[in-house]
Amino acid sequence: MRPPELVGRQSEVDFVNLMIAKSTQRRNDGGLIMYGLRGVGKTVLLNELQQLVGRAGWVTVQLEARPGQSGRLAVRQSLGRGIAMAGRQMARFRSAVEEVKTAISTISAFSFTVAGVSMNLGVDRSDHRANSGLLEVDLEELVADLAEPLRKNNSALAIFVDEMQDLDVDLLTALLAVQHRAVQSDWPFFIIGAGLSTLRRTLAEARSYVERFTIREVGALPDEEARAAVRNPATALGAKISDDALEAILGEAQGYPFFLQTFGKAVWDIAPDRNIDREIAVAGIAEGNADLDQNFFPARWDRTTPGERQYLRAMVDVGGGDMASTSAIAEQLGTAATSLSPVRQSLIEKGIIYAERRGYVSFTVPNMDRFIRRQADTDE
Ligand SMILES: Nc1ncnc2c1ncn2[C@@H]1O[C@H](COP(=O)(O)OP(=O)(O)OP(=O)(O)O)[C@@H](O)[C@H]1O
Ligand SMILES: [Mg+2]
Repeated sequence: MRPPELVGRQSEVDFVNLMIAKSTQRRNDGGLIMYGLRGVGKTVLLNELQQLVGRAGWVTVQLEARPGQSGRLAVRQSLGRGIAMAGRQMARFRSAVEEVKTAISTISAFSFTVAGVSMNLGVDRSDHRANSGLLEVDLEELVADLAEPLRKNNSALAIFVDEMQDLDVDLLTALLAVQHRAVQSDWPFFIIGAGLSTLRRTLAEARSYVERFTIREVGALPDEEARAAVRNPATALGAKISDDALEAILGEAQGYPFFLQTFGKAVWDIAPDRNIDREIAVAGIAEGNADLDQNFFPARWDRTTPGERQYLRAMVDVGGGDMASTSAIAEQLGTAATSLSPVRQSLIEKGIIYAERRGYVSFTVPNMDRFIRRQADTDE
């Protein structure tokens, strides 16, 4: 949900504005990938950036990756449809009409080849472009054929990818490789992605292509911004929040947007009038925490097996909030580190932990350690 006040993301907005400005001058300095913990505001930011480039006349495609074989098929469907919809948008271009038509016939072939999508775009499907069935080849031909007509209409193509850590390796590689080619040839093609911190490791393995990306962490909000995120929407509605009430909320949320919104909402709902003092804030925070314990944390916890829970508890015991050493976890559990690697791997695949550094694991969810402590053994 778009927050009433989207704060603290100006540098990403500026970055994309610069990307637009350069593209107008036929330059491409590469795509943008953002990573961060659960609930830190990645999706909201991606949507904001998509609107931004849309207002600049860019054509966009929105993908949300999901794990497994079904995710692999679903994301290809979205890609095929999204590109076809992009073709619809391009059909309205005013300049280079003949080139646009050729591009749309490539689009038609691409959508059909990648996902069996056959949408009537008013031109015949190309019988020699973007139809090899090799994703990387077809995507490159697509982007190559779109480049000139997009440029001549002062536009560009951007693919937005959310939950990028779940993208299958074939599509990920194809996207990275084509971004690489686009930079070399200054084609107006950009990938803007976001995902969990797990992504950094995946990207590091893709090596050289990643040089064509700016990679940024989306983190917790600094104090001033977190304050604005809570205070401004409230004052806009005529409420008064006392300083100590605000401090209580900020202290509990630690700058994490999802927590700020949860506590903000709970405090708002509980307040009998528009004067919010510390007492109301404290009561609201308790409500908010109950809500998080019911709805936010269990979404991850409930998907784990007993063995995985043991591992997570050991992680909390040895490491607390930040990184936990895998050998310390093994020691805590009284086994060898190697015998724990399947458990570790499946927790990574479930998006609950990530391993940024060799030999260490961390939670993808802020404050997950505190939640686990609260689950004192009741379920074992
Ligand atoms: N910059 C911000 N300022 C204020 N609130 C924000 C900001 N960014 C996100 N939020 C709020 O925080 C919540 C989480 O945002 P969002 O869904 O974008 O997070 P996410 O990083 O995509 O989470 P996940 O990893 O679970 O997909 C939403 O309620 C959103 O409105
Ligand atoms: Mg998200």
